[in-house]
Parts: sequence; structure tokens; C-alpha cells
Amino acid sequence: MVNQPHGGKLINCEFTGEKRDEAIKNAQKLPFITASSWVISDLELIGTGGFSPLTGFMMQADYENVVQHTRLANGVIWSIPITLPVTEKQAKEFHLGEQIALKGKDGIIYGTITLAEKYAYDKKKEAQHIYGTTDVAHPGVKKVYEKGNIYLGGKITLLNRPDHSQFAAYYKDPVETRRMFEELGWKTIVGFQTRNPVHRAHEHIQKTALESVDGLLLNPLVGETKSDDIPAEIRMESYETILKNYYVQDRVRLVIYPAAMRYAGPKEAILHAIVRKNYGCTHFIVGRDHAGVGDYYGTYDAQELIAQYEEELGIQIFKFEHAFYCKICENMASAKTCPHSKENHVHLSGTKVRELLRDGKRPPKEFSRPEVADVLIKGMQGN
Ligand code: ADX
Repeated sequence: MVNQPHGGKLINCEFTGEKRDEAIKNAQKLPFITASSWVISDLELIGTGGFSPLTGFMMQADYENVVQHTRLANGVIWSIPITLPVTEKQAKEFHLGEQIALKGKDGIIYGTITLAEKYAYDKKKEAQHIYGTTDVAHPGVKKVYEKGNIYLGGKITLLNRPDHSQFAAYYKDPVETRRMFEELGWKTIVGFQTRNPVHRAHEHIQKTALESVDGLLLNPLVGETKSDDIPAEIRMESYETILKNYYVQDRVRLVIYPAAMRYAGPKEAILHAIVRKNYGCTHFIVGRDHAGVGDYYGTYDAQELIAQYEEELGIQIFKFEHAFYCKICENMASAKTCPHSKENHVHLSGTKVRELLRDGKRPPKEFSRPEVADVLIKGMQGN
């Protein structure tokens, strides 16, 4: 049996068929907000149930509770605010009870919100509680400070999904991943979040987890990331390559996770686990500095936080020590399994790896599979 959705019920706020045609026609006449791709990706995930049990952009009671207590107002665990920011000027133009169209920058109406609340919020508090810092150099905090000062709360409808045709073969909503797992006969599934190419350490922890479950959902985030992360289209090719060459085909599925990256470390690890639960996963991997950036979080902060909620979360967390290749062991290892000193371990920073790839050089094979390195070199040189 695939996992239960978070909060007990898989949400579906998407209109289809004639109902959708009608709603799209009506939406042309509505007041509208031109929303960022970040907001549109949140809209999609609410609409398709990836963010179950959310049915809209957060109301103040949910928002405040999430910020302060990592729970929705009804007590269900939730770790990251999912909000619709507007400027004060915009907020004044909208009236409670009315429907507002959510347009993308491309002019497409992706959905609507029925405005139930407008509320001001404390950016510093949000930054501190969610990101653990108020430093604007943190990419997630920077976004908080750039946003409008008012949040609009209310239920949404999803009328158009963003265009994922580029990755069409790997796009599935939670209903579809659940069906896929059933068809594959997988009863236990481990979800893996990443915003990077799959390196040897990732491969090691994925395969170690896979020894204990039926299947692996490689679920890379392809929404907005910071500019120095490797773009999704390059990463996707690298995933196809590593899966083809190094994985058992019947034991792994690649599906995109169309969300924006928050870089919120421990709090984002909880969100990542919740979404994978909604996709049907029974297990989720949290390794070293999950969803971290710079030195804002300790190596195991995410594991420690999620451990406090694990039982109630309803998805089992596979926690992994920092993995590396040891030249004496001649295999992947961690401080738990390798007795040798650091000089024997192959360590490369993200910056170093990007530098090598840009120069057309493969990182050592102990760090990255050569086939993956070649895909990345090709992609990075074009960038
Ligand atoms: S992120 O989305 O969590 O920022 P990243 O690619 O850095 O993506 O990591 C994906 C997952 O692998 C996370 O759970 C992270 O903790 C884990 N991870 C990454 N590198 C290592 C490593 N060397 N050892 C153990 N876990 C790792």
C-alpha cells in the first residue's frame, strides 16, 4: 500500500472539462494578479494535491501557526508558509469575497483565488523562524524581503498547469505517481529530493536505502533555484544518463518535483518529506545539510528537526551520515563505516565541481560517474 496523503485526503482543486472551460471564460473578466513563477508553482502543487492538505494560499491563522509552531491551525504538521504576496497598493484594490485571477508573466491564467483574508506579516519573524536567519545574503530570506507586504489568503482553483512539456516524460502528479507505484507493485518507496546532479554520494545513499525498500523515486526539484545551481534541463539529462548506466530499471522512477527551492534547510526537509508522502512514498532520505545553503545550517540540523516530528509525519526518514569515497576502503563510506583519516577521503565543494565542469574537466570518478560528468561538461560549457 502506498502511503496515506498528509492530513488524510489527497486534495484536488483542479477544474477539468467543461467546468474548466467555463471557469477560464469567466476568469478573463476577473481582477487579476500577475504572479511570479514561484507563486504559480505553489498554485500547481496545491491544485494537484502535492501540498495536501492545503486547499489554498494560507490564511493568517495557518500562517502564524506554521511560522511559530510548525503546524497548521488545525495541528497538522506543516513547516513552510505557502502564501500569496502582493503590495499594499494591490491589496487595497481587492475586496474580500471576490475571485481574483492568477496570471503568469506569460499572460496565461493559471487559476483563481477566492479572497478570504488580507493580512500583514512580519518579514523578520518569518525569516528567523523559517530560515533560521535574517541575513539577506541567504537566498530564501532575500526572497522574503523582496515580496509584497501583504498576504492574500483563500481557496484556489487550478485552471492551467504550468508547461512541463520539456520534461513531459517525467511529469506526474500525485494521483499518477500513486497509480504508478501500485502498478509497479511497490509497497515501500523511498523518495529522494535533489537540486543537484546525482553524484556518487547521492547514488550511495539512494542505493543503500533501496536495499530496504521496493523502489526509489528520484524526484529532482525543477522549479526556481538560485542562479549558480545547475539548471534543471542539464540535470535532467544527467539523471537519465546515470539511471540508464547504473540503476536497475525496475527499481527506480524519475519524476520531476515542480517546486521552487527555498534553501530553508531543516524546515524545508519537513516540507520535502510531506510532499513525497503525498506522492505516495513511504520513506524519504535526509542526508547531509538537506536543502542547505552556505553555512547557515549544521550538517545534521535537518535530521534532528525532522526526527522530532517523524512519528506524526507518517513517512519514515532514512537519515544518512555525510558520505564520501575513501581511497583506502576503495568504496563509498561515512564516519560510521570508515576508520581512515580525512586525507584519504575524496571531497569536492560544489564551487570546485562547477569550476572543473566549466573548464571541460571531469571531476574524479570517485566523485562523479564519468558519463554524468560528460553530460554536465557539455551542458555547463553551453551556459
Ligand atoms: S537539496 O535539495 O537537499 O539541497 P542536494 O542535492 O544537496 O539537494 O542533496 C540531496 C539529498 O542528498 C539531501 O537529502 C542531502 O542531505 C543528501 N546529500 C547530499 N550530499 C550528501 C553526502 N555527501 N552525504 C550524505 N548525504 C548527502
